[in-house]
Amino acid sequence: MRRKARRGGGRQVEVTIDALGGRGDGIAAYEGKPVFVPFALPGETVRVRLTGQRAGGYKAEVLEVLDAAPERVEAPCPHFGPCGGCTVQHLDAEAYRRWKHDQVVQALNRRGFDEPPVAETVEVGEGTRRRAALAAVREGKRVRLGFHGRESHRIENIEECRILTPPLVALLDPLRAAMAEILDERETAEVALLESESGIDLLLQTRQPLGLTARQALAGLAESEDLARIAWAPAGPEGAVAEAEPVAMRRPPLLTFGEVSVEPPPGAFVQPTAAGEAALVATVSGWLAGVEGSVADYFAGCGTFAFPLSRRGPVHAVEGAETAIAALWQAARKNDLAGRMTAETRDLANDPPTPEELDAFAAAVFDPPRVGAKELAEALADSKVPVVAAVSCNPHTFARDARTLVDGGYTLAEVWPIDQFPWSGHVELAARFRR
Ligand SMILES: C[S@@+](CC[C@H](N)C(=O)[O-])C[C@H]1O[C@@H](n2cnc3c(N)ncnc32)[C@H](O)[C@@H]1O
Repeated sequence: MRRKARRGGGRQVEVTIDALGGRGDGIAAYEGKPVFVPFALPGETVRVRLTGQRAGGYKAEVLEVLDAAPERVEAPCPHFGPCGGCTVQHLDAEAYRRWKHDQVVQALNRRGFDEPPVAETVEVGEGTRRRAALAAVREGKRVRLGFHGRESHRIENIEECRILTPPLVALLDPLRAAMAEILDERETAEVALLESESGIDLLLQTRQPLGLTARQALAGLAESEDLARIAWAPAGPEGAVAEAEPVAMRRPPLLTFGEVSVEPPPGAFVQPTAAGEAALVATVSGWLAGVEGSVADYFAGCGTFAFPLSRRGPVHAVEGAETAIAALWQAARKNDLAGRMTAETRDLANDPPTPEELDAFAAAVFDPPRVGAKELAEALADSKVPVVAAVSCNPHTFARDARTLVDGGYTLAEVWPIDQFPWSGHVELAARFRR
């Protein structure tokens, strides 16, 4: 049988790694082109096989580390490598911290901020991830349940995990057993888990509607593992989650924002770690504590920032997901905050506020998805809002939006990286802008 030629030619070459890229890959140069080498560290000489093309250069896989960097350490997790969840467990703690910090600095450098005011990274530690999206597939009698591999559809069947909270790790085996009763051969599913304060909230998404056996398996799982709620939604685009239907409701899953208890809808966005959320909320609330007047909270989710900020005065929360705004508003009414809060469902990409609308606010908070807040930043740049607090999970789109704000007359006063995604290429941050 003839083997298909690999696009990198399958060539074996020896390269020296110059830098660690944003996704955690070592980056080397070969014939004037970049080579991206997962699991290789700066300073290392490695023998690699070129496996394909990427970003005008090559993808490669390590065959042998010929000269290891002093910062190389043994990865603590047995799933490191095949599991796409963590990409840099092989780097020592100090170099890792510097890498996360430099990602924020370099993204800002590329947008013309020569010496950006970036503070030391706040760390959340291991075993703190309370929200996770897992995948499952049935293969014969077995179910593989875990994270996808790097750039792959293959699911790494995880038995242990250093980033998830202990209750989520403890759920893996019982969940796997339940999925064996739910999935047909080769059928896949997505499972979103949230460890709420009143127990675990589970959202299952499958292509096929649930039959009686599947419903009974889920009810049994909720009972035996004392889960708060299980919901099901059809697999598909994110919007499908809006159609989630409860399968087992033992008690409402609850999260406290400020002093307000909120019941998030199935699959809702909430900050991935409680410690990261606390750091973000304390930072943003501290910046806005002395602000007099109304504050706008854009991309408000279920009220992570809006409720704590409502302690100091009026807040207007704006969010695209109707289910999130409904949860926020229900909690606001229940806590007699309807006089101090207003809420609006709005698509901030297609229908951003005008500068005149923004001028009604003494401060604005924005916390967009990874694509950033381009349209909102452009409107803010033309507004008179004196203080802006930005929260971001993507330093590149943040740096783009920061450039827009600064070109519009703001000063970037401080940036705080918060490592909510240990051992991955992702980094969260909070930043303060003033006019
Ligand atoms: C990173 S989350 C932040 C949520 C909230 N601030 C928190 O900390 O929990 C981003 C939020 O933006 C919302 N979103 C995404 N695209 C949007 C859009 N075009 N317009 C309005 N909201 C959007 C999502 O539903 C999500 O709730």
